[in-house]
Amino acid sequence: MAREEESTGRSWKTSRLDALRSEINSCRLCGLCNGRTNAVAGEGPEDARIFLLGEAPGAEEDRTGRPFVGRAGRILEDCLSSAGLERGQVFITNTVKCRPAKNRPPSSEEVKLCRKYLDAQLGIVKPSVIVTLGRVPLGLFIRSKRLGREPFRWDGYMVVPAYHPAAALHGIPNVRSSLTESLKLARSLSENGSSAITE
Ligand code: URA
Repeated sequence: MAREEESTGRSWKTSRLDALRSEINSCRLCGLCNGRTNAVAGEGPEDARIFLLGEAPGAEEDRTGRPFVGRAGRILEDCLSSAGLERGQVFITNTVKCRPAKNRPPSSEEVKLCRKYLDAQLGIVKPSVIVTLGRVPLGLFIRSKRLGREPFRWDGYMVVPAYHPAAALHGIPNVRSSLTESLKLARSLSENGSSAITE
């Protein structure tokens, strides 16, 4: 056990996630910091096997400092539960940690500047499966413009493309069932490995 762990009883992962949270809370790398009430670093177990990646915090997230706590969050929790998962089992964060005004999608420059925090979180948690919720987070892992729905491997992770839960609020059909299936797949991949992924 490392000396710090011995003296504080906290794991190195928890310490690093907490340090990262402080860094994110005071980040001024892009203009989004000017409109935020709270940065939303993300939350979940330090050793979560499944890592959910959304787009950007909305109004409720900005108010509370927690990811997916508004209407989209309630849909996400329903789908997690239908997939046999609990919110507390997964790590949840976003491509950018501060709310874009009027819930516009984050710009590619904002996503690029915030990427170092996501990479650091992945490097600490080391999940086996990343579930991308919507097009913006999926765009981080693919070069082509064609956004498929098949899971794929990326830099040692299995990536499962999924609908963003807010799509259900915009009248797109079958979002809940499709998201639930994606989360079931993520669960199965995290438990059984990647043999279900065809190259
Ligand atoms: N939508 C997102 O993409 N992320 C959140 O945290 C909330 C809504």
